Amino acid sequence: MAYAAFRSIGAYIPPKIMTNADFEKIIDTSDEWITKRTGIKERRLSEAGEASSDLGAKAAQIAIDRAGISKDEIDLVICATVTPDFLCMPSTACMIASKLELPNVMAYDISAACTGFVYAVSVAKAFVESGMKKNVLIVGAETYSSILDYTDRTTCFIFGDGAGAAIISATEDKSEAIIDVNCSSDGNYHDLIKTPGGGSLHPCSQEVLDQKMACIKMKGNETFKLAVKTLTSDVKVMLEKHNLTNADINHFIPHQANYRIIKAVGEALDMNDEQTVVTVDKYGNTSAASIPMAMNYAYEQGKIKKGDNVLFDAFGGGLTWGSALFPFSPKN
Ligand code: UT7
Repeated sequence: MAYAAFRSIGAYIPPKIMTNADFEKIIDTSDEWITKRTGIKERRLSEAGEASSDLGAKAAQIAIDRAGISKDEIDLVICATVTPDFLCMPSTACMIASKLELPNVMAYDISAACTGFVYAVSVAKAFVESGMKKNVLIVGAETYSSILDYTDRTTCFIFGDGAGAAIISATEDKSEAIIDVNCSSDGNYHDLIKTPGGGSLHPCSQEVLDQKMACIKMKGNETFKLAVKTLTSDVKVMLEKHNLTNADINHFIPHQANYRIIKAVGEALDMNDEQTVVTVDKYGNTSAASIPMAMNYAYEQGKIKKGDNVLFDAFGGGLTWGSALFPFSPKN
């Protein structure tokens, strides 16, 4: 049986910075309020005309180079995004494959909001373990700036743009294998985070434009409470299932939505600051890109070494949630 190894990580961080002070100029808010309520100091923005696939392809190239494989060895491209280049088609994964010059490869998108990258890990693992694919490129790429209503002071300051990517490859060595991925959802909570217009329920119309219905609407406070509860219980279930404790985890990488959520979950799980990766202060919430961008940050700081146990913990619109547990397994 083939096992699935998490071989590499990469990210692309757009250089353009939007600070809390910039938001003070456009909405009724303050750096002090945003910092206290979220821990966010700044977030990144793509350039006009720069789409999710542009960010994703740059992150992907880094992940491919670090995995030490030729791009021709990639046999599946999955892009997790809720800010695709195009509303319906072609998929952002197809656009990334085209930009990487991978013309004959299976490529498709996953829509699971902020949990998308963990869903992608789950699917890549299944494809590799089944023997159907050998080298899967997974990407989380978002340009939230394209779906934000910059007059909605309750939501617009939270999100940012960016992309992260990883290579998941077949291995015979069980010690390299992704241990487990557990993903779930509850559509009864679909109203908490939503882009209400522009889809088949409310197709694009003057009303959709006037009401900014194609922009993200979020019931932040209700989402906050469910996020803390779900992110905590998700990890407890994962650790118990594998007879592990928090001490077995070298790098706890939660979804980067709000520092208060990360802190509350970390405390409930007894994860210390050394174990917990935090980038929300620098990048804000980049949805499906948040976990791979955070992992890449810790990797580039020299903190993540071969064989270290990594635990992803994601939560987002849908609602969706999921966790993934694996040893970081670069080839060298
Ligand atoms: O990534 C997917 C999952 N998403 C999340 O996990 C996001 C979770 N939610 C959050 O991070 C937080 O709920 C927010 C940061 C969005 C909001 O923080 P909060 O502590 O939940 O604030 P709140 O909505 O309860 O509002 C508190 C007060 C209100 O004023 P009153 O009614 O108490 O007078 C708001 O009107 O803060 C006010 N407020 C603001 N004040 C200054 C709301 N937005 C702002 C703002 N600046 N930008």
